[in-house]
Amino acid sequence: MSFDRSVKIAPSILAADFANFGAECRAVEAQGADWIHIDVMDGHFVPNLTFGPPMCAALRPHIHTVMDVHLMIAPVDPFIEAYAAAGADILTAHVEAGPHIHRTLQAIRGAGMRAGLALNPGTPAEAALGLLDMVDLVCVMTVNPGFGGQRFIHSQVEKVRSLRAAIGDRPVHIEIDGGVDRETAPLVVEAGADVLVAGSAVFRGGSVDEPAAYGTNMAAIRAAI
Ligand code: DX5
Ligand code: ZN
Repeated sequence: MSFDRSVKIAPSILAADFANFGAECRAVEAQGADWIHIDVMDGHFVPNLTFGPPMCAALRPHIHTVMDVHLMIAPVDPFIEAYAAAGADILTAHVEAGPHIHRTLQAIRGAGMRAGLALNPGTPAEAALGLLDMVDLVCVMTVNPGFGGQRFIHSQVEKVRSLRAAIGDRPVHIEIDGGVDRETAPLVVEAGADVLVAGSAVFRGGSVDEPAAYGTNMAAIRAAI
């Protein structure tokens, strides 16, 4: 994975057909997805439950771009090796997930993955400042994590701007997660984001049998920015 700041769309499979994830990943990549975003939830850190390392391992052969795994779990550390073995390219942990995020980020890189740091909407940009030299990505949550299809929280745009200034010329992506669509994407790109996670706005209106809508939906987001 080389670093560049061009805008990338990372469809979240949380909005895909749960009975057909492999085919959904292939379909959305064929329609132009830059990364695939996988939302791991534990029913504890967030009030919803999805899937874990075996699902990521099963999906690995179906993903030819970047497997971007977003952990909404606590604790994180006991599971890091399992996600490395499953083939995650990027592993993102929440700063709110425990008292030792510094150790967690070290362990993620130590396991050979890129390290991501996610911030909930209620957490200020300052929480990331001491960690910018040990991350490859900062994920700004623009909804409260746990569910797809929620409304974008506009107060987060200024947080993106602050983080972009703080990152300077470090090779660190700013990823936006939650409520990204053709209306909100331009706001966060203008503020400095380069990775746009989008679930409902990408998968809406399509299916593995009718995947053209995925391409149309992503093209609409790209055209808006
Ligand atoms: C929310 C997840 C998001 C979510 C995005 O907890 O982290 O990745 O699935 O879905 P949309 O784009 O529908 O807000
Ligand atoms: Zn996510």
